[in-house]
Amino acid sequence: MAAAKAHQRACDLLATQRPLTVQEREFVLRHWQESQNSTTVTTLAGAFFTPLDLAKDLALYVSGAVRLIDLGAGIGALAWAAYRNMVAGYLSPPHVEIVCVERNPEYVAVGRRVLPEAEWICADLFALPDDLRDFDVAVSNPPFGRTPRSGRGPRYTGRCTEYHVIDVAADLARRGVFLVPQTSAPFRYSGTPDHRWDRSAEYLRFAQQTGIVLEFNCGIDTAIYPGWRGVRPTVEIVTCDFTERRTSRELRLPPPDEQGQLALLAA
Ligand SMILES: C[S@@+](CC[C@H](N)C(=O)[O-])C[C@H]1O[C@@H](n2cnc3c(N)ncnc32)[C@H](O)[C@@H]1O
Repeated sequence: MAAAKAHQRACDLLATQRPLTVQEREFVLRHWQESQNSTTVTTLAGAFFTPLDLAKDLALYVSGAVRLIDLGAGIGALAWAAYRNMVAGYLSPPHVEIVCVERNPEYVAVGRRVLPEAEWICADLFALPDDLRDFDVAVSNPPFGRTPRSGRGPRYTGRCTEYHVIDVAADLARRGVFLVPQTSAPFRYSGTPDHRWDRSAEYLRFAQQTGIVLEFNCGIDTAIYPGWRGVRPTVEIVTCDFTERRTSRELRLPPPDEQGQLALLAA
């Protein structure tokens, strides 16, 4: 009931004709829920909106970026947090460019009210125009696992949509930061005292096919955040430097600080 009321308040804010304040935008990001509006089962489409406080943590990784693209932007949680970080601390905010790609027009309409400073493109991220290039950073909380897809990444041929999205991002930006299911990250950190590297066969396939290595973050435990609106996925933040593609041979060598991983990497 409280959720329905808060969602209605978010809708009322969106229906006003004036620009929203910072507090109002964040209220919408925290409380707008598609499931309160329609009979669509949001989770089937993989549309778990990121809790705003987690989005703000992830935005630590956009520091220094001027051009950013958000793939599968939803209503704009990641893009909003990134935007706030990109312009933060400047008396006269620097020029920044944010592009949000989202295929659901209802989300795009909400996103345009939450972050009108961004360019919102209602499109399929697997069929983007060629002129979307040269971003400093790509961010995404993509659909996870075997969600239905219209296309695939340019190199990866496996089953995980999150890896396909990262593969797409690698051709658009110099670096990336993503939320992925914990099982798709090469480490276990969030929600467990047993911190360790753990590379699945599917991760190794992704790395071998794309040359992309997913790296650890600065120690963000995503499990502390409630606010997933009805779901509670276990996720990790992974970072990547897309300018550093590894060859198959390099991927087989143990990283200097992870001698114990040799067997896994060579698998
Ligand atoms: C897990 S949600 C995350 C939304 C938002 N990034 C956030 O963090 O709150 C994934 C989003 O990707 C969108 N999406 C799924 N497949 C897509 C595609 N092929 N092209 C564009 N957007 C897509 C969904 O509609 C959904 O909004």
